[in-house]
Amino acid sequence: MKSWKIAVAGATGLVGRKMIQVLEERNLPVGKLLPLASERSAGTTISFKGEQIKVEILTAAAFKGMDIALFSAGGAVSKGFAPEAVKRKVVVIDNSSAFRMDKKVPLVVPEVNRKKVFRHNGIIANPNCSTIQLVVALKPLYDKYGIKRVVVSTYQSVTGAGKKGAAQLEAELKNHTPEMTAFPHQIAFNAIPHIDVFMDDDSTKEEWKIVNETKKIMNDEDIEVTATCVRIPVLGGHSEAVNVQLRKKFDIEDLRAILKESDGVTVIDDPASNRYPMPILAEDKDDVFVGRIRRDPTIENGVNMWVVSDNLRKGAATNAVQIADVLIRGK
Ligand SMILES: NC(=O)c1ccc[n+]([C@@H]2O[C@H](COP(=O)([O-])OP(=O)(O)OC[C@H]3O[C@@H](n4cnc5c(N)ncnc54)[C@H](OP(=O)(O)O)[C@@H]3O)[C@@H](O)[C@H]2O)c1
Repeated sequence: MKSWKIAVAGATGLVGRKMIQVLEERNLPVGKLLPLASERSAGTTISFKGEQIKVEILTAAAFKGMDIALFSAGGAVSKGFAPEAVKRKVVVIDNSSAFRMDKKVPLVVPEVNRKKVFRHNGIIANPNCSTIQLVVALKPLYDKYGIKRVVVSTYQSVTGAGKKGAAQLEAELKNHTPEMTAFPHQIAFNAIPHIDVFMDDDSTKEEWKIVNETKKIMNDEDIEVTATCVRIPVLGGHSEAVNVQLRKKFDIEDLRAILKESDGVTVIDDPASNRYPMPILAEDKDDVFVGRIRRDPTIENGVNMWVVSDNLRKGAATNAVQIADVLIRGK
């Protein structure tokens, strides 16, 4: 089998490190791994398959000779350097929001729309973390019953804001003044209903991403989606309270069985034993965990569920590596 040369742009970040870990765990045929970051981390090393590999400075020229580049260094870096990588015949899998809504760029969650991987023009976008776990849980219900409307409220981990987010919480918990702040308010012992910037309609960009990315991935502009996104002082994963109005009548046990059989979903739903998904159970796992599945009697064909996933894994690194795997295997 051909071995692939893979660059990771943003290799020293929370997501970049996890990408390298998942590339190793899934044993992708990597002949050369090139970790790239800013001058701040250049010269440090990253461990991959028992070797210490030196981190290099991210420049356009660094992509020469690479086959695939996983980008996870923020939107500005992606906008500047992804086209440079593509010019050098590298396929970019971009974890930032820079190209997600570009009509020429596929936005892929393999459990939902894996074939879109092959429709790329050099760039494939990885969706937002809170969107990925949502669509993995929605897709099986969409296929069986159709979906009219989704109301989602998120409870998002501080690691969604990268190294700075985790550092702020850890400092506040020790009663230290954080060196770096990622949030506009104290996050320890708090809940902040504000993720990313505010838009003209007073929603946030994170909420906008969930609405628009869900429609694009599900390939259905008619699904009504509304979201409220909240940052909470949790390290290990994002949680979502999801209310879905299906188009067809359903039997709750059939619906639960459909979720249980779905790729990438683990159902934990045993209220009698206090068993339901929680971020500490999802941490460092690849699946999307679904529980608290119950009928919503206040709307026609309504169902409530609680959806949890590790934002650094399925919400970012694992999904990107799965896309690379589909590309490499050609199916
Ligand atoms: N965290 C999540 O749950 C999550 C989920 C989905 C998507 N994302 C997206 O993934 C990206 C990275 O997130 P993260 O959480 O890993 O952030 P992070 O922990 O802050 O890491 C950022 C990475 O980008 C590098 N970087 C920053 N500016 C750079 C520059 N000018 N040139 C080269 N490298 C640069 C950093 O290198 P240095 O070490 O040199 O500073 C570091 O490797 C963001 O676009 C984010 O929106 C994150």
